[in-house]
Amino acid sequence: MTTSWQRHHLLSLADFTPAEYETVLQTAASFREVLSRGTRKVPTLQGRTVANLFFEPSTRTRSSFELAAKRLSADTLNFASATSSLTKGETILDTAKTYLAMGANLFVIRHQKAGVPAAIARELDRLKSGAGVLNAGDGQHAHPSQALLDLFALYQLLAPAAPRQFLAGKKVAIVGDILHSRVARSNVYSLTAMGARVHLVGPPTLVPHAFAESFGMAKPQVHWQLEPALADADFIMVLRLQQERMRDRFLPSLREYHQRYGIDRARLSLAAPGAKVLHPGPTNRGVELSSELMDDPDCSLISQQVTSGVATRMALLYLLATSAPLTAAA
Ligand code: NCD
Repeated sequence: MTTSWQRHHLLSLADFTPAEYETVLQTAASFREVLSRGTRKVPTLQGRTVANLFFEPSTRTRSSFELAAKRLSADTLNFASATSSLTKGETILDTAKTYLAMGANLFVIRHQKAGVPAAIARELDRLKSGAGVLNAGDGQHAHPSQALLDLFALYQLLAPAAPRQFLAGKKVAIVGDILHSRVARSNVYSLTAMGARVHLVGPPTLVPHAFAESFGMAKPQVHWQLEPALADADFIMVLRLQQERMRDRFLPSLREYHQRYGIDRARLSLAAPGAKVLHPGPTNRGVELSSELMDDPDCSLISQQVTSGVATRMALLYLLATSAPLTAAA
């Protein structure tokens, strides 16, 4: 189905190439088409085993990876930290090696600490296991599959003739708790790579100016006032206030946050006509986004994002699995 794919781990989008973005979009589009024809399953990953290791709570990411693996006919192993041997003192690397010994070929890993998926990938490589790692969100570092599914949702909506630079001329405003967001970090890379102008906006405590410097060529523009960020925006990506990651006091109150930065219909009218709202979920209704806008299918792309997640994750599992040799263990 594809030629330009060599990696067998997906840990971040920092070094993703335009050809890789295009391959993911085209592969996701072909899986989306297969699914829309009513075919519930394809035999593509028959005989492979996908281990979902989620050390942090998740609804959509975990479920959509599981569904994606099942639709590809892979076997799945699901791990939940609360009921695992971690509570008996087993290390994360030993947990991964246990799944490897059972024949896992692909590991989908979410962890509250940045760098855990990369550490597991290094260990699997050291063991010459041939198994791949897909980062499903690590701390504040990266969430590549979320950014790729967001990109795929936009690709489906805009239906460009070709994927190359398909967001050229578009402005995307990412609003809210940028500081704690691995979604924002990954999206800055993907949106910019496809030609979009990315603007970040939120309170100074949650959008430090230095944040933009870390992106090199993909440098986004930072604002502390909503109006310039929203002006002429084609897409507004709203982020959840990640209260579980706020060790210090970042905000006076949620009410004040909503008044100053919450996205509602009046604020949407500051953007380009027909602008759409995205949110990776889960959403604090009425805090970062008004309930009314969230539930309006004419403005909100939230359910398209969730739907895009399955096809995009099928594409990623397929690409990673087929670039890695089948492991010997069975
Ligand atoms: C995001 C995450 O976990 O990073 N959610 C998701 O994967 N759908 C964003 C968030 O938790 O706010």
